[in-house]
Amino acid sequence: MSAQSPARILLAGAGAIGRLHFREMQECTFCTLSGIVEPAPAGREWAEAAGVPWFADLDTALAHEKPDAAIVATPNQTHRALALRLIEERIVPLVEKPIASTIEDATEIVTASEKAGVPVLIGHHRRHNPIIRTAHEIISRGAPGQLVSVSLMALFRKPDDYFTASWRREPGGGPVLINLIHEIDVIRHLCGEISSVHAVTSNRIRGFEVEDTAAILLRLDNEALVTISLSDCASSPWSWDLQAGEIDSYPAPAAPVTTMVISGTDGSLALPSLDFWSYRGKPDWYEPLTRETTGYRKESPYIAQLRNLCAVSRGEAVPVVDAQEGLSTLRATLAVAESARTGKTVHIPSSQFA
Ligand SMILES: NC(=O)c1ccc[n+]([C@@H]2O[C@H](COP(=O)([O-])OP(=O)(O)OC[C@H]3O[C@@H](n4cnc5c(N)ncnc54)[C@H](O)[C@@H]3O)[C@@H](O)[C@H]2O)c1
Repeated sequence: MSAQSPARILLAGAGAIGRLHFREMQECTFCTLSGIVEPAPAGREWAEAAGVPWFADLDTALAHEKPDAAIVATPNQTHRALALRLIEERIVPLVEKPIASTIEDATEIVTASEKAGVPVLIGHHRRHNPIIRTAHEIISRGAPGQLVSVSLMALFRKPDDYFTASWRREPGGGPVLINLIHEIDVIRHLCGEISSVHAVTSNRIRGFEVEDTAAILLRLDNEALVTISLSDCASSPWSWDLQAGEIDSYPAPAAPVTTMVISGTDGSLALPSLDFWSYRGKPDWYEPLTRETTGYRKESPYIAQLRNLCAVSRGEAVPVVDAQEGLSTLRATLAVAESARTGKTVHIPSSQFA
């Protein structure tokens, strides 16, 4: 592949997120779809409509072509097998989040990636969002001072027919493993590693085996404390997805609201607005606070993620979120589920994030 030619990307899984990746790829000149792997009959029709080769499984696809990179946008429990097969072929994969459905499967992907020297990207796309990138710069230069508290709301209302698929009504299909994992990844990235987790959950409204609501407390290695309110049955605008404008299928917010506040001894950063509140002089609640807002250049995080995938496949960059990071985020998210199940605080030794 010359530096000018678009990277050829194989897409495994033509479901909701696979189709979003395809739509985003059509906006890019630096990559092109080389084929679709999708066992469902609807996937074949979709590939034909898109004018790209269709394959029923990954082995058949790899027998026919060698793409520059691949996207694994399939159900969680299939991530391990597909990622390992791509690593074996030395094709750089972008594996959708979560990296896998268990720590064991995720560890296998990390080990195979390191052993083969084939980088793996994990689809924690928010780290590619310019809002999160800017927040990271603000926090990294120490503007908030010593972090003390993070407050986060992920409160949204999924439609009832979302739960027609039976796996969404069972443990693993609820908002902790589907949605909270994004928040956990952002917290780890912006604020620091998580050292302990305590959570309570409820299924009172939907009545399924899986939770519909959770209250979560985290302690970070730097001793900052985090509170998270999570619900998929709350009619509310207080959620990143509804506020950040990453996906067109959600309506634009009628009025912007804050979904996350990162507070330190010298100031507080609100997201997604990037409003930073601080005192000009002595920090004192009797003094007026000032607000500064940092601007940023808008870009789809999914396109930025595709750019990273192509650059990594050319050996010109490292993954923004690699397999080890995906494993660490999965570990902390599974700790939330474990704490809710056992009623106990789950401690995460810092060596497990190494
Ligand atoms: N990053 C994000 O914003 C985001 C959003 C939604 C979903 N996801 C993740 O993406 C993955 C897919 O989620 P979805 O909502 O698109 O699911 P989906 O059920 O809509 O689509 C999955 C597709 O994969 C196909 N498939 C199953 N096994 C396959 C295999 N072995 N090879 C190829 N295709 C196979 C299915 O037939 C289906 O069409 C999940 O891991 C999910 O957590 C990420």
